[in-house]
Amino acid sequence: MAQAYVWLITGANRGIGLEMVKQLLQSPSNIVVAASRNPAKATELQGLAEKANGKLHLVILDVTDKESINKAAKEVAGFLGGKGIDYLINNAGVILGGEDTAFSLDVDILTKTFVTNVAGPAYVTQAFIGLVEKSEKKTVVNISSTVGSIGSDFGAIGASYAISKAALNMLTYKEAKEKPEITVISMCPGWLQTDMGGPNASHPVSVGVEGVLKTILSLKPENSGQFFNFQGQHVPW
Ligand SMILES: NC(=O)c1ccc[n+]([C@@H]2O[C@H](COP(=O)([O-])OP(=O)(O)OC[C@H]3O[C@@H](n4cnc5c(N)ncnc54)[C@H](OP(=O)(O)O)[C@@H]3O)[C@@H](O)[C@H]2O)c1
Repeated sequence: MAQAYVWLITGANRGIGLEMVKQLLQSPSNIVVAASRNPAKATELQGLAEKANGKLHLVILDVTDKESINKAAKEVAGFLGGKGIDYLINNAGVILGGEDTAFSLDVDILTKTFVTNVAGPAYVTQAFIGLVEKSEKKTVVNISSTVGSIGSDFGAIGASYAISKAALNMLTYKEAKEKPEITVISMCPGWLQTDMGGPNASHPVSVGVEGVLKTILSLKPENSGQFFNFQGQHVPW
């Protein structure tokens, strides 16, 4: 039997997270932990779990709530029974500031955006790092965005969100420097047709996620601390 890999995805109940779960379950060697704020209302995840022969676990995890993260980490360690998490995907994220700019942004919105998009992944990774270190692949993926890349020059609007993703990229760099034994990357999934990306986004969610998973599966340890897009290309910081 092929080597089984364990994946944990935050924000797995809709959008990019849900599509990742769907595509990963197509390979019987994957074990998927789908984390979301309210699995009891996540009907699509529940439907997938019914058909997954025990390969899909649903857990409650709100990335802005330390207690919920700690509880999830304990629960996951319990049912994995000694196994680690090969791929920890910090996917949950928000855009709250719309088209705000540096001189118009509301600092409360900026703070809230940071709590979910930066502090969330930082704490989730702290809480789950023991399980990641136990695994074979030892990989953490912070789902970022090219709009947080200064080198990609996206202009003035969407400031709160872009600032949060630039900060998330620095988190990736710091995590990679502190723990060279794990692989940590930032990943832009592309502009995808989800609730966040909207119906006019350039790619269907399935296309972006296919590219994201292909890129993650081809990572080498020397890629740690780098920023990729869903086509496997480097994104400038
Ligand atoms: N779509 C794009 O074009 C695009 C482009 C670049 C980067 N991204 C990034 O990709 C990631 C996923 O985006 P998406 O398009 O799938 O967005 P989406 O359709 O808006 O879904 C966002 C997901 O994040 C979850 N979430 C938000 N706050 C949370 C919290 N406090 N705790 C746990 N889960 C939380 C949501 O859960 P609820 O259902 O409970 O709200 C939902 O599952 C985000 O990090 C986003 O910034 C997206």
